[in-house]
Amino acid sequence: MICDFLIIGGDGDLAFRKLYPALYHLDRDQCLPACLKIISVSRTRHTAKAFSQKTRDMLIAQLGDNKPDAPTWKRFNARLSHYALDASNEAELSRLAHTVLNDRSRDLVTYLATPPDIFAPICQSLWAVGLVRDNMRLVIEKPLGSSRESFNAINNSLTDIFDEHQIYRIDHYLGKETVQNLLTLRFANSLFEPLWSNNYIDHVQITAAETIGTGGRWPFYDEAGALRDMVQNHLMQLLCLLAMEPPASLDARAVHDEKLKVLRSLAPLTGRDVADHTVRGQYAAGTIEGQSVPSYQQESDATGTSGTETFVAIKASINNWRWAGVPFYMRTGKRMQRRFCEIVVQFKKLPHAIFPEQAHQNSANRLVIQLQPEEGIRLYLLNKVPGLDESFPMENVSLDLALSEAFTGRRVPEAYERLLFDVMRSNSTLFMRADQVEAAWQWVDDIADGWKQQKQKSLPYMAGSNGPADSIALIARDGRRWQD
Ligand code: BG6
Repeated sequence: MICDFLIIGGDGDLAFRKLYPALYHLDRDQCLPACLKIISVSRTRHTAKAFSQKTRDMLIAQLGDNKPDAPTWKRFNARLSHYALDASNEAELSRLAHTVLNDRSRDLVTYLATPPDIFAPICQSLWAVGLVRDNMRLVIEKPLGSSRESFNAINNSLTDIFDEHQIYRIDHYLGKETVQNLLTLRFANSLFEPLWSNNYIDHVQITAAETIGTGGRWPFYDEAGALRDMVQNHLMQLLCLLAMEPPASLDARAVHDEKLKVLRSLAPLTGRDVADHTVRGQYAAGTIEGQSVPSYQQESDATGTSGTETFVAIKASINNWRWAGVPFYMRTGKRMQRRFCEIVVQFKKLPHAIFPEQAHQNSANRLVIQLQPEEGIRLYLLNKVPGLDESFPMENVSLDLALSEAFTGRRVPEAYERLLFDVMRSNSTLFMRADQVEAAWQWVDDIADGWKQQKQKSLPYMAGSNGPADSIALIARDGRRWQD
């Protein structure tokens, strides 16, 4: 089991917001081996005391009212150390490699919490100082390029040094409890699998709506836009989990192979199809939860006029036997009316109605998998409204499974806890293999190229709304509607 956890970029936002809190929780739950050391590296100098204080402060901010409990903090703090050095500089890294990290028998997890443009020099340096070895694993996360080509360039610089099985590419959505539960729902219950195809499913909707704007990272976001920031990774990973064939086992390779097949079966969107099947939007000023918010172009760190999309809706098709004819509608946006992430599986209507009401009301079943803010599952079933009415009135009523109520008293771990724990256990099932990321980029690149060629503009939508009217039209053209 792992003994050293090296975080390069250990003084950055990702480390303080996600990594230390996740490691702290794992420590509290007794999931870290006694000998594990957490070694932070960044160029910023801190005394041991100041670094520990900063970590504690950030932890308190993250934990809200729950202050770190004293014994856990004591144990956690004893694991922590910080070194001010440039990890891409061999001479500087070498000192660490020959002192703190010199025991080659200890497993080593190295997390690159840095911008991807310095992955290559850091990995070269890790290799040059002898830290790359069989019992070492490398963790990276998005943005993994901005196109298939740039992803391949980043990836090649890693695979020159590491074997694929040593590289853990994080998509934090895969660590979310409900996302993992998708696997359970589909492959541990006999109820759904027979219905899970174009025989019974009319269409699927995947929505990830946020109320936040660009969150103080306008220049980065403006380069990416919603397509690269959310669709290429999070939404497409959800689509894979929903659409993949049952894997032979939970083994990483079996799961990755099935997800890859889905990505490769996606009908490419090119040329005119892009305009017909996608909608781009950008938020204008508006009001969210009673607060006025500026437009995307007027965000305080905006650096100019921009056509970048903060909203995207896509109608995707999967060309295989299971899914032919079933549209997968995906949409994501910033500054939307409310924050929610939901999957809607809409079943087909019955072929024949025996009840009078059924003919003119929505009589199809619907499964809603809610990822956030609350985590749960709702299955809508038609029920007879109690009473003596001869016309047999019916209503769609939901069977609700709220995770927090079904498992009272159990804390739902944050995505990074699961993912970091899995890296330590060398389990890459919930990570992305390179060929998946590449296939997802290929699909997204076609859309981005189509937008460019067709000069498809981002349509304005009011902050606090559900996106541009054209996104409603996108699904309405098929006689359907978004489930908001
Ligand atoms: C990140 C995106 O990957 O996911 C952000 O870069 C987005 O723009 C975030 O806000 C959403 O994550 P979550 O877990 O809050 O849904």
